[in-house]
Amino acid sequence: MKLAPGEMPLMITLVRQLAGVHLDESKGYLIENRLGPIAKRIGCTNFNELYFKLRYDAKSTLVQEVVDAITTHETSWFRDGAPYDALQFKVAPECIDARSRSGSPRKLRIWSAACSTGQEPYGIAMVLSEMLPDIASWDIQILATDISKSSIDTAIAGVYSPNDVGRTQRPNAMQRWFDQTPMGAVVKPAIKKLVTFRQLNLMDPLLGIGPFDVVFLRNVLIYFDKATKLGVLQRIKNVLMPHGWLFVGGTENLGEAGPEWVPQTHCRATVYQPNVPVRV
Ligand SMILES: C[S@@+](CC[C@H](N)C(=O)[O-])C[C@H]1O[C@@H](n2cnc3c(N)ncnc32)[C@H](O)[C@@H]1O
Repeated sequence: MKLAPGEMPLMITLVRQLAGVHLDESKGYLIENRLGPIAKRIGCTNFNELYFKLRYDAKSTLVQEVVDAITTHETSWFRDGAPYDALQFKVAPECIDARSRSGSPRKLRIWSAACSTGQEPYGIAMVLSEMLPDIASWDIQILATDISKSSIDTAIAGVYSPNDVGRTQRPNAMQRWFDQTPMGAVVKPAIKKLVTFRQLNLMDPLLGIGPFDVVFLRNVLIYFDKATKLGVLQRIKNVLMPHGWLFVGGTENLGEAGPEWVPQTHCRATVYQPNVPVRV
């Protein structure tokens, strides 16, 4: 289905309202390729009809399907490598020390805020499990959220194809933390039980979650415009502990947020800490 003149601005507005995702006029092919088949299937003859259906008479399953289709879920195990090294050798040890100093030892709260199909939060759980051989006696929770219901369903199942587990920066972890079954590689229960999955739209207020020691917000800010990005970062700052750390994607930087976030480089990864006023 082709976009008719005048339909592009409508669809840009709709996608921004549903997911915060900013599409410019050059992304017409994404709308045609990803939303065209859905429009056709539900009997719309053009995008104008799809827009009004979604605005005024959509079932939540249709909205969900459109959100799943328009968002990009590309991910891989230990993506880019370096952030997981920084987590293991700098960030997690510092958080553990900060927690001990503040009287809540052996406790960590981590949030994977655009977790896609689960590789990121399970990878974090694998890193922590390798760091802490007695992890079962620690109070560790990893919250993993995404706007996409189908991605969350895949993550909860925790079953991955040989092709998927082959795309990894840490082959040894893949040997250690999966059970091989006829259905595919299944994440071991010891890893699964560290992670709680939930559907969450980063455009919404963050109610009842946090505070976190570490937030992974990787490869999602690139889809937002500046105002949306700054809004998300402010909400994240509100749920990050003063000693907390924020990871973003390798091509994302928080320069636009001004002095709110302080960048540091560890293990070749850039990690940010909130700029909190020093109390005297
Ligand atoms: C490219 S993936 C990144 C996955 C993982 N963080 C990584 O770096 O490999 C981007 C994810 O952001 C999610 N996403 C997009 N807009 C979102 C929103 N408004 N709220 C929550 N998640 C969103 C998508 O559904 C997708 O799974």
